[in-house]
Amino acid sequence: MMAPLEIKSGVFWVGVLDWTLRDFHGYSTEKGSTYNAYVVKGSEKNVLFDTVKTTHYDEFVQRLREVIDPEKINYIVVSHAEMDHSGSLPMVVDLVKPEKIFLSKPCKEALEEHFGEQVRQWPLQIVGTGDEVYLGGKTISFLEARMLHWPDSMFSYIKEDRLLISNDGFGQHYSSSERFDDEADWGELMHQTAKYYANILLPYSPIMIKKLDEIAAMNIEIDMIAPDHGVIWRKHVPEVVSAYRRWAEGMCQDKAVVAYDTMWHSTETMARHVAEGLMSRGVSTEVMDLRVSHHSDVITEMLEARGIALGSPTLNTGYLPRMADLVCYVKGLRPIKKVGAAFGSYGWGCESVKLLNQELEAMKVKIVHPGVKIRYVPREGELQPCFEMGIAIAGAIYEANTKQK
Ligand code: FEO
Repeated sequence: MMAPLEIKSGVFWVGVLDWTLRDFHGYSTEKGSTYNAYVVKGSEKNVLFDTVKTTHYDEFVQRLREVIDPEKINYIVVSHAEMDHSGSLPMVVDLVKPEKIFLSKPCKEALEEHFGEQVRQWPLQIVGTGDEVYLGGKTISFLEARMLHWPDSMFSYIKEDRLLISNDGFGQHYSSSERFDDEADWGELMHQTAKYYANILLPYSPIMIKKLDEIAAMNIEIDMIAPDHGVIWRKHVPEVVSAYRRWAEGMCQDKAVVAYDTMWHSTETMARHVAEGLMSRGVSTEVMDLRVSHHSDVITEMLEARGIALGSPTLNTGYLPRMADLVCYVKGLRPIKKVGAAFGSYGWGCESVKLLNQELEAMKVKIVHPGVKIRYVPREGELQPCFEMGIAIAGAIYEANTKQK
């Protein structure tokens, strides 16, 4: 079994690797995940930060015992009530018998809802931003992170170690043999970090901006960020913080996503021509067939794409179900500052483009072209409007991106 790891003097990773996770409530996790937990040993008190999913409890306790006798843990910090971190908590509380459990007020309420009456017997102590707990040579300073991404979410800063334990923030669903950012494959790591942001944190971007500002105003040094998922940031802390700011502010590249579903390849042909128009103007273009592209990958590509083109033929006065799935998912994640347009083929009714335009408007996407509809099968010369739509989107991308600089 993989040994625990001392990530700072007296601070140990005691998490688990979940290599087989492939779905996190609709978010495809092709690289699995990790559930990170940490033990911090002070000269007077020892603390456990978070637990793991119940499925991995035995492995977690085995690793924990290599670092410390569980009965010597004085405190538990519960950063977040979601089950991937708190699932094992009742069993861990029985094992550790902590003197205190520190948590935010909404976390107390959430734990009561999750675990019922037993929670009332636990030695809970509510903490908030600025509250501190001294461990002997190490001090925990709590920083509430409400709605990043649940009301109960909380970060903890270990002052003497300049270590931020950031719960879901800065995390990745990424199981790997490496525990640190500088050991991991950089491209994969940043892809998984962006995917996590796009699929979990994106709707809370305005709150994220305020939290990043708040942390900056605290004027604290952070030389390590230890999230509850994925690898630990020790070399690239400034890079991941600035990526978070970029994503939260809706900064984009000269990039577009053309996402479509198709019935008999007409809308697919249209998608290719929209993409040709975009590419003819030098826009980096991702063409995503929804029959083979998962909605969580589409939103990941949309994260830094200024342009969005959605295509579907009309089916039963609507659009195809895979497009409905994408629209529902993306709408909930509320990407900002996008430009876009819709297209699709039809036979008799031709509702899909009108409906997709309404959805784009509902997503506050600036519509830069009225849309292209083609009856049944595109004929010679009919595809030029699709190419021109690509050019129109490209123009809007460059205009918006020039303003952001
Ligand atoms: Fe990783 Fe929101 O739990």
